[in-house]
Amino acid sequence: MRAIGLMSGTSMDGIDVAMIETDGNTVSRFGPNAFQPYQQQDIAVLRSAMEAAPALRARTERAGVIAEAERMSTVLHASAVNAFLAANEIEPKSIDVVGYHGQTVLHRPKEKLTVQIGDGAALAREIGMPVVYDFRAADVAAGGQGAPLVPVFHQALARALDRPPPIAVLNLGGVANITFIDGDNDPVACDTGPANALIDDFFRARTGAPRDQDGATAAAGRVDEAAIARLLAHPFFAQPYPKSLDRNDFREWVGAHAGVVQKNLQDGAATLTMLTAATVAEVVHVLPRPPKSWIVAGGGARNPTLMRMLTDKLRLATVETADQVGWSTDALEAQAFAFLAVRSLKKMPLTFPTTTGAPQPMTGGVLVEP
Ligand SMILES: Nc1ncnc2c1ncn2[C@@H]1O[C@H](COP(=O)(O)OP(=O)(O)O)[C@@H](O)[C@H]1O
Ligand SMILES: [Mg+2]
Repeated sequence: MRAIGLMSGTSMDGIDVAMIETDGNTVSRFGPNAFQPYQQQDIAVLRSAMEAAPALRARTERAGVIAEAERMSTVLHASAVNAFLAANEIEPKSIDVVGYHGQTVLHRPKEKLTVQIGDGAALAREIGMPVVYDFRAADVAAGGQGAPLVPVFHQALARALDRPPPIAVLNLGGVANITFIDGDNDPVACDTGPANALIDDFFRARTGAPRDQDGATAAAGRVDEAAIARLLAHPFFAQPYPKSLDRNDFREWVGAHAGVVQKNLQDGAATLTMLTAATVAEVVHVLPRPPKSWIVAGGGARNPTLMRMLTDKLRLATVETADQVGWSTDALEAQAFAFLAVRSLKKMPLTFPTTTGAPQPMTGGVLVEP
């Protein structure tokens, strides 16, 4: 089947679009991919929806700015798909399904609440293709974390990869998540801690810039190792998998224990960047055994300072980017939602006791025809 996946992650940088060909077990071809960045005003709307989201009591509740953000986000996804089709001369009829993640505005699995805004039916109408959306709902309703969803895709790719097992696939988005793959066992997965969100927020607050471009500022700073040690004392890091995080879960903790307010820009950036590397290294203690090969994807893989810190922390293993092993560093998550949409159509499992804590392997997603 030919499927398109759409992802807008917690970094709120833009919409990733990717096409793959797959039967839901293996990927026979990677198609083209694209990225449509958000404009400043789009980000402002998404941020205000995220600020308002903690008041939500039900995953379907939409009011005020959240309803406005959902309409806007759906329209932006439709325009991203239509631009992608036009740029690559793809006929809508040739696409079997579109996997639409939506934008997470709240993730509180303990309260069985995970909210992704995005109107699947409206998107299907706008683009004229079948859409699968609401991928996390069934898992969370059954008592799972609803995240991460990508492990089954990572496993499918890792099967075809010539690297010593166990293999860890690390995605560095707003938060970081890892998939641990050891042969054909169900993949093990969890969030590891913050990735780019805290660094981005720090930059936005201090300089107005959206991020530490290429990690240049962090590279010039000094890591406050004592602060890192204090931060690693958070009980999350020693918790067994499965476990998942909301974008802002560590905002207060880091505010209280990192002392970045008193630091200059370079030292603050260096310390927050090391926090991501150090929390990834911490996860090794809760995995079944230490990974031998690490494959890093997501925007964080584009930050050489973060990659250097990671390689140093994980020095007994190899650390490569997804691009380096023939996958896509930028499009891996969007490709995953194309893959998950096909699995959803075939009622195949998306989540497992070892990835989300679901009581049994579970399918998910809601199909809407145009
Ligand atoms: N060249 C770069 N230098 C530093 N950071 C980068 C670079 N490219 C991307 N990033 C970081 O990656 C983030 C986007 O990562 P992404 O994988 O899209 O996350 P998400 O899935 O949460 O949207 C940006 O917000 C930024 O922090
Ligand atoms: Mg992104």
